[in-house]
Amino acid sequence: MESQTGIRPFAIVTGASRGIGAEYARALARRGFDLLLVSRNKDRMNRLALELTGRHRVQIDSEALDLAEPEAAHRLYVAARQRRPTVNLLINNAGFGLFGEFVEMPMARIQEMLRLHVNTVVESVRLFLPGMIEQRSGAIINIASIAGFFSVPYLAEYAATKAFLITFSEALAEEVRPFRVRIQVCCPGSTETDFHVTAGFKPKNPLGTQHAAVVVDASLAALERGPTLVLVGWRGRVISWLSRCVPRTILVRAAAARMKPSG
Ligand SMILES: NC(=O)c1ccc[n+]([C@@H]2O[C@H](COP(=O)([O-])OP(=O)(O)OC[C@H]3O[C@@H](n4cnc5c(N)ncnc54)[C@H](OP(=O)(O)O)[C@@H]3O)[C@@H](O)[C@H]2O)c1
Repeated sequence: MESQTGIRPFAIVTGASRGIGAEYARALARRGFDLLLVSRNKDRMNRLALELTGRHRVQIDSEALDLAEPEAAHRLYVAARQRRPTVNLLINNAGFGLFGEFVEMPMARIQEMLRLHVNTVVESVRLFLPGMIEQRSGAIINIASIAGFFSVPYLAEYAATKAFLITFSEALAEEVRPFRVRIQVCCPGSTETDFHVTAGFKPKNPLGTQHAAVVVDASLAALERGPTLVLVGWRGRVISWLSRCVPRTILVRAAAARMKPSG
């Protein structure tokens, strides 16, 4: 994506302190984007900013924000506007998994996930989209998951929030298509990051895991002309095929058997 003004394009990456978000930051800095990195961990983001400015002629800012807090989207919007009047690309990537029996989960953690994956993303999109529509350019990438294609026992809430992101993004993409604004929903499968440690389970995907850079390459390659819903590699296509062709009752029982916590 190129800025129409001659100045470097500007992107926001949430969850940029590590994992997939940090890879988006690396890939965008390589493409000449100025960046606003967002997460709760200022030190990690500062280290990443140093790495990127050492390699590329770009400006990298960071903002420590807990995006699960009620006013987070507004704070993000203000932080962005203090830096630049126009945002060319917003990547809503911050997220975490929550593994186990739903009735055992702490209510605070459940609310944190709902706010981070649903409320803050929806509110951020509502805040940033009008500027993009006015400019007749810009893009938003929402990071969902292949888990969003299924009902996943023991990851029930996580999969449901990702399903929300898929339908929300696909619908919005159509609404804003006439204004030349792109919305993408990227659906990675098992990816080598801290995600599984935070979620509290080992990756059990029989198709194996992929590197975060593979996810980011697929997503950015699809941004200009690719589909709204981005699947990553052959694993993504297999999972998507399964979700359409195997009856849901069979899938959900198979997922329960696979995911059931031991002990
Ligand atoms: N890895 C996978 O297998 C996989 C598969 C499908 C989808 N995904 C999705 O990919 C996205 C990125 O995950 P990842 O795999 O890169 O995991 P990760 O390595 O654990 O990174 C998660 C990122 O989200 C940030 N974050 C979490 N809670 C936050 C909060 N309340 N406020 C601000 N930032 C917050 C973290 O920053 P701090 O903790 O430093 O604040 C970190 O930068 C998530 O949406 C995840 O659901 C991952």
